[in-house]
Amino acid sequence: MPQFVVDFGSLGKTPEEGRLDAPAFHRNHEAIWGAIAEFMAGARGDVLEVGSGTGQHAADFARRTPQLTWWPSDILPSHLASIEGWRLKAGLANLRAPQGIDLTDAAWTWRGDAGSRLTAIICINTLHISPWSTSQNLIAGAGRLLRPDGRLFIYGPFRRDGAHTAPSNAAFDAALRAENPQWGVRDAGDLSALAQAAGLTLVNIAPMPANNVVLAFARAERQN
Ligand SMILES: C[S@@+](CC[C@H](N)C(=O)[O-])C[C@H]1O[C@@H](n2cnc3c(N)ncnc32)[C@H](O)[C@@H]1O
Repeated sequence: MPQFVVDFGSLGKTPEEGRLDAPAFHRNHEAIWGAIAEFMAGARGDVLEVGSGTGQHAADFARRTPQLTWWPSDILPSHLASIEGWRLKAGLANLRAPQGIDLTDAAWTWRGDAGSRLTAIICINTLHISPWSTSQNLIAGAGRLLRPDGRLFIYGPFRRDGAHTAPSNAAFDAALRAENPQWGVRDAGDLSALAQAAGLTLVNIAPMPANNVVLAFARAERQN
């Protein structure tokens, strides 16, 4: 059984100065940006990315939003090194050094400016390659850490009402579960139920290419 993480360093490319390159980043980042741009453009404050992987999304999104401060994070040392590599290459004042955040820790938090709450949390392609506890802890943490007008954005493939939205997602789910029984494509309804318990509401499901979506959660009392 593989570890409970995906290590881009094992994908065959020699990292240059620690920077890893994810093909999925090149395929997906424009579409993901399209789903979050309206909120991000009007927002101020701090954005935390969990499961940042290579660090390419954080660097790209930080470049587009100089008025926001981006805080990337991950659990793997090789990914933290890659995130730092992309950060140094980008040379952006609003992109902070990566921090180790493990979403299997129910008490996870972020180390930002004292006392400040987060404008947004973004999580891309992480919940299906980690145990269900990461979904539970991500959403509970968003309930603790987001500002009243904050948003949690989650990108990936998701089931709807217990059913896969495409045969390719069903095959992907089966392959994930065969690799590690703790992995798997999550159900948007299950995440919505977790959100309700955390004082959040699923306010939008933005369709993405290749049967992915961006789920957006807001505080229950702030739905627009
Ligand atoms: C498939 S990669 C996606 C990376 C990046 N978001 C992207 O889309 O390119 C999943 C990432 O989640 C991270 N991850 C796995 N388990 C995690 C956990 N328990 N807490 C935080 N991050 C985790 C992995 O180290 C990896 O970087």
